[in-house]
Amino acid sequence: MSPLHTIRLEPGAHCFSAAPDQTLLAAALQAGVPLRSACRNGSCRACLSQLQAGEVHYVIDWPGISRDERAEGAVLPCVAQPRSDVVLQAGRLVWG
Ligand code: FES
Repeated sequence: MSPLHTIRLEPGAHCFSAAPDQTLLAAALQAGVPLRSACRNGSCRACLSQLQAGEVHYVIDWPGISRDERAEGAVLPCVAQPRSDVVLQAGRLVWG
């Protein structure tokens, strides 16, 4: 079984676990953290967040963020799987 990674989502310091083969969005929703989403395929940017720490792997070749945005820490949790413990600054939570 793959080791779980710890994901911390700000604001609010919501902590939950995610498997390496699980997207950050799926793990958040499973944990009851209502990270905003729409397409869930990496194209609409509704889930756009900031990666503050950690590494992710994209499940698609061309997620809807530019190379520059990626370099600045932008991340699309709906198509990003953790490769380490991760700290995310959520773009928008449903309740926020
Ligand atoms: S929900 Fe559309 S890009 Fe993530």
